[in-house]
Amino acid sequence: MREVASSAELGAATDAARQRGAGVGFVPTMGALHAGHRALLARARAENGFVVASVFVNPLQFGPAEDLASYPRDREADLAVLAAEGTDLAFLPAEGEVWPSPPEIRLRVGGLADRLEGLARPGHLDGVATVVAKLLHLVGPSRAYFGQKDAQQLAVVRRMVEDLAFPNQIVACPTVREPDGLAVSSRNAYLSATERERATALYRALSAGRDAFRAGRRDPGAVEAAARDLLEGAPGVEPDYVALVDPATFEPAKQAEAGQVLATAARVGRTRLIDNVIL
Ligand code: PAF
Repeated sequence: MREVASSAELGAATDAARQRGAGVGFVPTMGALHAGHRALLARARAENGFVVASVFVNPLQFGPAEDLASYPRDREADLAVLAAEGTDLAFLPAEGEVWPSPPEIRLRVGGLADRLEGLARPGHLDGVATVVAKLLHLVGPSRAYFGQKDAQQLAVVRRMVEDLAFPNQIVACPTVREPDGLAVSSRNAYLSATERERATALYRALSAGRDAFRAGRRDPGAVEAAARDLLEGAPGVEPDYVALVDPATFEPAKQAEAGQVLATAARVGRTRLIDNVIL
């Protein structure tokens, strides 16, 4: 595996891969790599001749009161995961390489960011869209891989690619879970042992909502209530939202239907976690 820090070296390597006829797969990350990232990397490896992964903690997607400074960073551990998953090129730019100065031109997500994560974290989805746009330009992949766990981010990236005619295919990969159902996330590292146990309530709540749908409930409020009741009854868990939404627009469901996303966010101690299931 080759490591590069400059856009010029990245561009030269991906140009060479394309000239050899290799499809370029791209996995953008913010590091703190876990089993969810491994699944993205493995899928990219299986589907492309040349695999690029980036590790870049993007300041544009953090609010002023968020965890940019304390976001987990472990370069050596990340490089070991990337190498083990057969990555060809690791792009680890310094902040000044991606944003030599704060970008004057940024993407602004429309109504898709007026809901759920967009409301809870103003500017977050704009920051994601802006950096993903830049990374897609720098890497020029045939396919880019995103986890279903960040369902609204995935919807934003898909819509950006469609609206702005990016030539890249966006591939969604299923959420990876611990044996007790907790979705793997870099932020799980912030949880104490007690909080880690309590955090399982998110998936249990989503499963209760999905079970209500499977049992025939079609009123979105009933599906959401089944999940919310469990979450509200869980000790040490402070629910933010539980919502059944369209997977592309994130508009509230009018009638519960297969394929919709039941999404939740909750605080466990000081850590805010998100998760979702697809009906
Ligand atoms: O999901 C993430 O890790 C980030 O939001 C991404 C897509 C790498 C953009 O910074």
